[in-house]
Amino acid sequence: MTLRHHLPTESFQAWQTPFYYYDMELLRTTLREIQRACSNTENLHVHYAVKANANPKLLAAIAAAGLGADCVSGGEIRAAIDAGFPAGKIVFAGVGKSDWEIRTALEHDIFCFNVESMPELDNINHLAAEMGHKARVALRINPNVDAHTHKKITTGMAENKFGIAMEDMIPTIRHAAELPCVDCIGLHFHIGSQILDLDCFPALAERINELQDALDAADIHLTHINVGGGLGIDYEAPLENPVPSFAEYFDSFLRHLKLRPGQQLHFEPGRSVVGQCGHLISRVLYVKQGATKQFLILDAGFTDLIRPAMYGAHHVITNLTASAGEGETDTDRRVTYDVVGPICESSDVFATDIPLPPSQRGDLIALHSAGAYGEVMASTYNCRALPQVHTSDELS
Ligand code: LLP
Repeated sequence: MTLRHHLPTESFQAWQTPFYYYDMELLRTTLREIQRACSNTENLHVHYAVKANANPKLLAAIAAAGLGADCVSGGEIRAAIDAGFPAGKIVFAGVGKSDWEIRTALEHDIFCFNVESMPELDNINHLAAEMGHKARVALRINPNVDAHTHKKITTGMAENKFGIAMEDMIPTIRHAAELPCVDCIGLHFHIGSQILDLDCFPALAERINELQDALDAADIHLTHINVGGGLGIDYEAPLENPVPSFAEYFDSFLRHLKLRPGQQLHFEPGRSVVGQCGHLISRVLYVKQGATKQFLILDAGFTDLIRPAMYGAHHVITNLTASAGEGETDTDRRVTYDVVGPICESSDVFATDIPLPPSQRGDLIALHSAGAYGEVMASTYNCRALPQVHTSDELS
């Protein structure tokens, strides 16, 4: 069985490319796995990080599974509410929340703001006072823990712009206590994304334990600990590993964190929830022989999936329609191609020197593991149209 056998290629022929295709069954299986992994732990709360994919159909399925939402903008808060997430399960993060976004969150009475600086805390207090509200806040602390992931998606090191420095934690909590319209209920952390080295999570847990000891000594008691997101997915073998091990992930915290009685533990996974259920489907426009290389030029470019151009990210690529010759298997004949898009920039490359069956104009090409940070990061650069979207639910 290969990935091409898992996809409804016949139906794809009728759809205009490029498009994202979401396997809703895989998404629902992933959501059931999350529910199963938290079923024995009453104080565990999962907020899906909407930034990974804000497609309304996916959001509705995730809300229906009972997850909360982690939002980073007023637009995401609206999208989450529209999709059916209860406001009481929404958290709102981000280093630069503008006034209208804070007001939107207050109007909906969301569960909690993850606050990243003292001036932001003062502003939330000010806006909440104007509106006659009290805002629940958690302080995002920069724990200076290395996530051992790509530099551009590392967030928990002292030099990153995120969070409040550890030494400022207690003064900031004391300051919050003096503000009439904020209620500081917890701490928030997030060290980075696409984390495959699970040892990073116990390292964060140990750092949280140290900070909690300091809080105890200062007689400060908080009820919520939010450890953010970051669990990685298998971009190399999406078929073999379609569902990440959420039980192991949650356990890597539960085994190391010394939660105080009654404390609630929150997670914000994004990529691990939606990454493997999405594929970007494109057509070969031209097969071009260059001076030294052979190029497959697709009708999808970095405007549709920016991860390879932006982070050097690897997505498995398959030709869904190239037929094997008589008596041959898919792997018998392979040609080495650079798979590129049509955008007028040399970074518009999905993969270099990869083996694929001999391909031709019109073949359907799939870029897998594209459910997270794919559609949601698409742009209209070069006046291109945004990619279309289809789901497996349309076929049933
Ligand atoms: N919580 C916070 C505060 C975050 O900043 C993020 C992601 C998450 C949760 C969700 O992390 P996840 O579980 O998805 O790793 N565009 C990049 C990823 C950027 C991640 C930004 N923050 C990419 O395509 O790899």
